[in-house]
Amino acid sequence: ALVSMKEMMIKGKKEGYAIGQFNINNLEYTQAILLAAQEEQSPVILGVSEGAARYMGGFTTVVHMVKGLMHDYKITVPVAIHLDHGSSFEKCKEAIEAGFTSVMIDASSKQLAENIEITKSVVDYAHERGVSVEAELGVVGGQEDDIIAEGVIYANPAECKELVDKTGIDCLAPALGSVHGPYKGEPNLGFKEMEEISSQSDLPLVLHGGTGIPIKDIQKSISFGTAKINVNTENQIQGTKAVRETLAADAEAYDPRKFLTPMRDAIKVTVIGKMREFGSSQKA
Ligand code: G3H
Ligand code: ZN
Repeated sequence: ALVSMKEMMIKGKKEGYAIGQFNINNLEYTQAILLAAQEEQSPVILGVSEGAARYMGGFTTVVHMVKGLMHDYKITVPVAIHLDHGSSFEKCKEAIEAGFTSVMIDASSKQLAENIEITKSVVDYAHERGVSVEAELGVVGGQEDDIIAEGVIYANPAECKELVDKTGIDCLAPALGSVHGPYKGEPNLGFKEMEEISSQSDLPLVLHGGTGIPIKDIQKSISFGTAKINVNTENQIQGTKAVRETLAADAEAYDPRKFLTPMRDAIKVTVIGKMREFGSSQKA
């Protein structure tokens, strides 16, 4: 069923597991992730960046594609369609009007007061329509689509408390050393801050930059209140590797299904692995 991410995250935080947000780029990504979720009986969040939505045609195309697949595949597990790193109130509103069940407003590059003001306006609009809201503080390193960061800035726990108290968000992504894309060396996550931020409220925390984080850090994050982990690059790497191998082994191939089927299979396997790692399998 198509739902917001509110209930699944509350349940995850309470029972000690995290739900994966897997970013979609096209039909095959969406198929792979939905099939993985159904097979694992896991709740799932489909992450859609503004760039990926543009690539696929727009927010409405995304919603219709997801609904179509859920119907044809008889998907019964909880699924959220979530705007990833929404850049403005207008973009969040557009996504919600198209049928997204969840949005992230990323005003983390703004001053705290402005971040709070924009986030609050999104919460007011979204909650009236049963849509969940994620906000961010601090700076996640690396690059994802239009989101480019030079360095990494750890979120400040006092600022997190203020943002949470003043906005009524459903989950918070405090940047604590994670990076979009591959890590250079071992990630250095701020667990002390994570624990402190999590203890300030019942709010589920979100970990961005899930690709390349060692399992011991994943488990630690979950034990410190992380109930949502975003993964994008890992699926892209594994999916593209399968395409390369398929085409390298068959120079005559031209039917896209010949190389996109292995891509889809590779993404599905990767997603199933993450669901087991995050503990969300059999929690639908
Ligand atoms: O918002 C999406 C993520 O934070 C994905 O990060 O590409 O490093 O897995 P990743
Ligand atoms: Zn992110």
